[in-house]
Amino acid sequence: MIAKKMEEAINGQINKEMFSAYLYLSMASWAEVAGLKGITTWLKVQYHEEMMHAMKFYEYIIRKGGTVKLVKIETPENSFDSALSMFEKVLTHEEFVTKSINELVDLAITEKDHASKVFLDWYVNEQVEEEQNANEIIQTLKMIGENKAALYLYDKELGARTLTVPSDFSLGVESQLGAAGAP
Ligand code: FEO
Repeated sequence: MIAKKMEEAINGQINKEMFSAYLYLSMASWAEVAGLKGITTWLKVQYHEEMMHAMKFYEYIIRKGGTVKLVKIETPENSFDSALSMFEKVLTHEEFVTKSINELVDLAITEKDHASKVFLDWYVNEQVEEEQNANEIIQTLKMIGENKAALYLYDKELGARTLTVPSDFSLGVESQLGAAGAP
């Protein structure tokens, strides 16, 4: 069984992960209209990653005999001043998600919920990568500045990102991730 407090908190996190997916899809649509094809691809891959994060929580609640409760997803922003300011928002959002994951870990520790603590460790590591990705892109976009040729090339580079996480959720995310939790 899963404690009610933890079940509620994880259900809240499912909403945040789904909002993340929604936000990145919204950003992808802005990038697509702006002609940034590579950034569009990068963000669409990120959209899938966020849905996978949500589904991994979903499956955990079910495995622990709990109840999944989906609630309304907030409307994401859909207009941005530049690729740089958009990725600064990606970083701010990921820092918010990291804080939320840390709060879940704190709850698992106070509730002496060892299973949830071990499960959440995967997300703690994942958030390090999420923030690093955003930071690296911001750094490069700052270097590029107003150089359109450089932006064109970097956009192409970001477009090489491919999906490395399970996207067929009917097969179960956890079973496809493997024992180590790696894609
Ligand atoms: Fe699911 Fe980007 O954190």
